[in-house]
Amino acid sequence: MFDAVIDFIRSHFRTTDFIPLHEPRFWGRELEYVKQCIDSTFVSSVGEFVNRFEEDIAAYTGARYAVATVNGTCGLHVALQVAGVKPGDEVITQSLSFVATANAISYAGATPCFVDVDRDTLGLSPDALTQFLDSETKRDSHTGSLINIATNRTISACVPMHTFGHPCRIDQIVEICDRYGIPVVEDAAESLGSRFHSVHTGRYGVLGVFSLNGNKTITSGGGGAIITDDEGLAQRAKHLTTTAKVPHRWEFNHDEIGYNYRMPNINAALACAQLEQLHHFLECKRNLADAYRSFFDNTDMTFITEPNHAHSNYWLNALVMDDQAKRDRFLEATNDAGVMTRPVWGLLSELKMYRKCHAGSLENAKWLADRVVNVPSSSVDLR
Ligand SMILES: Cc1ncc(COP(=O)(O)O)c(C=O)c1O
Repeated sequence: MFDAVIDFIRSHFRTTDFIPLHEPRFWGRELEYVKQCIDSTFVSSVGEFVNRFEEDIAAYTGARYAVATVNGTCGLHVALQVAGVKPGDEVITQSLSFVATANAISYAGATPCFVDVDRDTLGLSPDALTQFLDSETKRDSHTGSLINIATNRTISACVPMHTFGHPCRIDQIVEICDRYGIPVVEDAAESLGSRFHSVHTGRYGVLGVFSLNGNKTITSGGGGAIITDDEGLAQRAKHLTTTAKVPHRWEFNHDEIGYNYRMPNINAALACAQLEQLHHFLECKRNLADAYRSFFDNTDMTFITEPNHAHSNYWLNALVMDDQAKRDRFLEATNDAGVMTRPVWGLLSELKMYRKCHAGSLENAKWLADRVVNVPSSSVDLR
């Protein structure tokens, strides 16, 4: 059966060479814009492309403001800080995620607190979240803060993630968090182009963060973007990502500890050219997902499709295997044949630096971690 999968993937990508999991495509005006940027000499944190990228990504997602960052991890770090996360706090997130989600929480001085995911969306489970908040937290009688009873730490934010681009039940998550007064920062690193109930991911929370890493749907080499509808949060995010410099024509004055996190103009040149093609990339990726869906319908492997009410970018296509042994046989057969496949990340709650963090049952996350694999997902030009 695995031979048929390998043949199917090879026929779609039309090559006998090695097939990577996800390659960037530079089919547009990338060289032209990068050359323009070099000719202008504005290759660093100031320039027309970085401002334009912010305007373009805000327009595309429908957000009022966007702040360009050097990568998604730094974007998440700053988003958490402007959302009010303080050193010593705890931030709710999912254990089934890339390490950057938990690392960004740590950079903000906080500790992750892991809640389970849903098996169908692969994202934070509203039921598990409700259960945790209802039964394992209390209000501090003096400050009114929400406290995790087990750790005695203040819970100051929640970071759901849209796994492989598939939107999680973000409307319910925001509603639950609103009830408890916790801001939601969406880790939308993987979901540029994905919508839930027609609203772009990253727009449900107070802030959302995208990644433009080389393996994402569009890339700026390295890069990220924070989006928000809140002017004050946007200004503060911009301030913190630009070394907290107080604007002045010649004086250097910084009013707090900021970061050198602004996306360089030369990366933004690439980002602008890539964003122009996002629509086409999404067509290619959804087309590939359709082909995978039809193929895997006739097999004993389950292709993960977009959840109800979601329009996914299908950033990384994924399958669920019957068990871990079969997953491992699949990984071996495909990688031996030069078709790159990969298991989902190991759970963050099992990494040595996060092993002692508070965690709920994580039954679904564990179940998925044993069974999910990613298959090649690069855009194939169908024109
Ligand atoms: C879920 C998730 N969060 C955060 C990041 C961090 O983004 P970056 O690599 O741009 O720092 C990534 C991707 O790399 C990711 O997949």
